[in-house]
Amino acid sequence: MAAEPRILVVDDEPVVIRSAERVLKNEGYRIEGALGGREAILKMEQAEYDLVFTDLKMPEVDGITLIRWIRNSKPGIGIVIITGYPSQETMKEAIELGIIDYVPKPFTPSVLIDVAKRAVAWAEGRKPTEEKGNEEFPPAMAAELDRVIREFRHKPGCLIPVLQRAQEIVGYLPPVVQKRVAKGLNIPEAEVHSVVSFYSYFTMKPRGDHNIRICLGTACYVKGIEGVLGKVRERIGIDIGQTTEDKKFSIEGVRCLGACGLAPVMMIDQETYGALTPSKALSIISQYGGPAGSQAPAEENDTVVEQEG
Ligand code: FES
Repeated sequence: MAAEPRILVVDDEPVVIRSAERVLKNEGYRIEGALGGREAILKMEQAEYDLVFTDLKMPEVDGITLIRWIRNSKPGIGIVIITGYPSQETMKEAIELGIIDYVPKPFTPSVLIDVAKRAVAWAEGRKPTEEKGNEEFPPAMAAELDRVIREFRHKPGCLIPVLQRAQEIVGYLPPVVQKRVAKGLNIPEAEVHSVVSFYSYFTMKPRGDHNIRICLGTACYVKGIEGVLGKVRERIGIDIGQTTEDKKFSIEGVRCLGACGLAPVMMIDQETYGALTPSKALSIISQYGGPAGSQAPAEENDTVVEQEG
């Protein structure tokens, strides 16, 4: 992939293209826009792109038609969906077509940057020179994973339960595990990857003893999660997607924790904390053995709710 990944943003609303360009240009991506599927196809016939970010609902050539065209004519291009409220049917179809990820509209800069990073990593991971096929994990884990695959193989809708068990066994879902699951269940690797990327429950990187999940969704963004995230990053010394050297904490950015009424929200392991301020967040983290600071102790009304589902 070029040093400056080239992304085509396809949307019939020019403001979406402009917003994506404003956010991603500063992160080192080369952004171009197309106002519909037809224009996008013309552009892809004339130039090489690494990724396409596309809306689904567009006049003339819609997103699903465009994705099908890319899969047939330009299979090396990674696809991310940017859309409002897709139906389950549409999402299922898009996942089956091998999309990498999904960005809900309206998006926040953090979500878009996070997804772009992951999409680029995915596209790079597909290059033959960087093939991870020989990477392995402990034989005992592999044997247990194979046992789970055999147990579920013939059950309908087996992919998600197998991935859940795989994550319990290995701790996370790196490419080598996704590949083994895909092969064992006879499902395309792209489909397995799409599911792993789509559900924030799944992670492709090892997590620390305590996983801090910061909600970067719209409600939390509007209520100031960026300030909370900034302080948490500063205190723990790692960024989103990283784990501390002592493996004690990881920080993960997610798109909605299902507790928007309590925004801004974060989860640590299975506990959800709402109505956060930066100082409350730091105080909560110190209760998990995080680095102590000079912030005020957590206030009485720090909200803890049970995780849904
Ligand atoms: S947007 Fe943060 S919990 Fe829904």
